[in-house]
Amino acid sequence: MKNFNTKVAVITGAGSGLGRAMALRLYQAGAHLALCDLNLPGLEETRHLTGELSERISLHKVDVSDRSQMLQFAQDVLTWHGHIDILINNAGISLSPALFDDISDEYFEKVINVNLWGVYNGVRAFLPHLRTRPEASIVNISSLAGLVGLYGYSPYAMSKFAVRGLSETLQSELVGTKISVLVVHPGGVKTNIIKNAIDLDENQREVAHQNFSKFALLSTDEAARQILRAVQKKKNRIILGTDAKVVNAIRQLFPGSFPAIIHAIFSKAMFK
Ligand SMILES: NC(=O)c1ccc[n+]([C@@H]2O[C@H](COP(=O)([O-])OP(=O)(O)OC[C@H]3O[C@@H](n4cnc5c(N)ncnc54)[C@H](O)[C@@H]3O)[C@@H](O)[C@H]2O)c1
Repeated sequence: MKNFNTKVAVITGAGSGLGRAMALRLYQAGAHLALCDLNLPGLEETRHLTGELSERISLHKVDVSDRSQMLQFAQDVLTWHGHIDILINNAGISLSPALFDDISDEYFEKVINVNLWGVYNGVRAFLPHLRTRPEASIVNISSLAGLVGLYGYSPYAMSKFAVRGLSETLQSELVGTKISVLVVHPGGVKTNIIKNAIDLDENQREVAHQNFSKFALLSTDEAARQILRAVQKKKNRIILGTDAKVVNAIRQLFPGSFPAIIHAIFSKAMFK
């Protein structure tokens, strides 16, 4: 997809962080946007940041983990915009770092419901409409935790490995069609993901956010720029950030000792 002008892009989780940054860049490039989030004020802020109350942008309060809401969302986007060219499955949640034994079944299920079933629901709801377009793109936001198991992030890694599995399968099944599928593996990006962690009390959020921010080195705008450039080049995978590239390279170079290396790095850094 060489340029985004007049293309219709659906972005989930566009009320904050990476989703907002991709929305702003796509808007500047002339795209029409259907933005969804659980957080309507966050979506309104994203629209406000475009500087216009434009007919080019529609806002939708949708829970991506709810299949019927996502199917309705697809119908609403068609009614508003007429068609869909780009689907960005970005909405995601995390817990604060914790060991497997200390994470309840309920928290595992919540993370999987949003991060995995949310992406599935997006593909299920929008793929039939993308198939009708002369060219189309699906972007699924996985993580470094979709390439390597990350100490302290077991539910998150489960969900993000599954996003990679679905994305790579779709890539092979959609060969010969006009639909490209990009799976994105970011390392730390400066967003509210840990501030929004679903297991934290209000009084824990700021400290957790500050701790996370020491390791999250990539700006949302730079991450968005690299993702959209990868869409234009029809890449099927990108790894974002030096941290993600280094950790992934360590995994490939030292597969046997990788768990001990990760333990040494993350157990000290994340649980102090
Ligand atoms: N920030 C990072 O370091 C990092 C690293 C790797 C991957 N990611 C991934 O990037 C994506 C974007 O996250 P972010 O870092 O911008 O975090 P963020 O918390 O700033 O933004 C996530 C957005 O998703 C929305 N959301 C959460 N649950 C939802 C639901 N059920 N339905 C609809 N919207 C929902 C939130 O309201 C929020 O606006 C996520 O998939 C995340 O896992 C982030």
